Amino acid sequence: MDRQRLQGKVAIVTGGGRGMGRAHALLLARQGASVVVNDLGGEPVGRGADVTVAQQVADEIRAAGGKAVANTDSVALMEGAQRLINTAVETFGRLDILINNAGIFRIDEIEHMSEEDWDQVIAVHLKGCFATIKYAVPIFKRQRAGVIVNIASDSGLGHPMNSNYAAAKEGIVALTRSLARELGRFGIRCNAVRPRAQTGMAAAFNERARKWIPLMDALGKFAIGFEMSDRFGPDYKPERVSALVVWLCTDAAANINGRTLYAGGDEVGLYSEPELKRTMARPGGWDLDSLDANRVRLAGDLTNDFLLKDSIGDKEL
Ligand SMILES: NC(=O)c1ccc[n+]([C@@H]2O[C@H](COP(=O)([O-])OP(=O)(O)OC[C@H]3O[C@@H](n4cnc5c(N)ncnc54)[C@H](O)[C@@H]3O)[C@@H](O)[C@H]2O)c1
Repeated sequence: MDRQRLQGKVAIVTGGGRGMGRAHALLLARQGASVVVNDLGGEPVGRGADVTVAQQVADEIRAAGGKAVANTDSVALMEGAQRLINTAVETFGRLDILINNAGIFRIDEIEHMSEEDWDQVIAVHLKGCFATIKYAVPIFKRQRAGVIVNIASDSGLGHPMNSNYAAAKEGIVALTRSLARELGRFGIRCNAVRPRAQTGMAAAFNERARKWIPLMDALGKFAIGFEMSDRFGPDYKPERVSALVVWLCTDAAANINGRTLYAGGDEVGLYSEPELKRTMARPGGWDLDSLDANRVRLAGDLTNDFLLKDSIGDKEL
């Protein structure tokens, strides 16, 4: 039975014109929320723009009897983020939910990654979250309520050839943890989701990453994080992720704050939070000799930890 869990609420979905963002926007609207569908409409690698991308989803929601407006600003620009937040307030009179989902990728080995590839990826993901949240929080504080869901990635756990993206996404997790602690007392919740779905971005990533597949297969466990989404399977639909993302915005999730969750295919889940694994104290502190002597006690057997010397070495594949 489809209850209208978000009746009267106003939501923004960044990157809401395609892929998972589109699915989030449609489900929010079906649950009674008025939706600002933001999308710059560029390519998955973040070049170009197309104003029809956000508009089509807003039209789709309105055609189904929902309330929606399109916004085509880039979240990577402070003034774009400000206009986006203003659009919600000017059109619908308030703002309750912010889903930071917009994303791009630029993959390459680190020595070939240009400054622009680095800056653009950080700008859309990490700065984009900062910018929208900065302008949404004064509204949330006045209402003493608000929900933020930031879309992270399991790439953040370590993703060869995608280090700019991984760094941006793990930055988003740190931002989420920090803001949950900073804003919780105002009734503002902030959680992250690491999703998996077959989307335009996933297809474009696979296309560009194909040349590294033999290397990644040879690296085996060392390539964890280098997941080709076309190996996920047909159940990895954007809608499967939307259920968890939108559920986090409902009152049923009122006590969930500062968490990182997972959604993909048939599964949802909760990530553990990093913690200090072990400590050793030495009166007067440690020096190089004492660290030498206690290497195994501190770090276990590190001989093979991503060093690959006795697997494939530094052979070119
Ligand atoms: N597809 C996956 O398996 C996967 C896995 C982990 C994380 N993610 C993340 O999930 C989110 C959605 O990804 P998707 O796979 O649905 O991708 P997608 O390419 O289908 O959708 C992303 C949308 O963001 C928009 N966008 C890009 N830059 C923007 C900007 N500066 N301002 C506004 N809009 C902008 C794009 O135009 C696009 O429509 C992204 O943050 C992505 O990094 C995806």
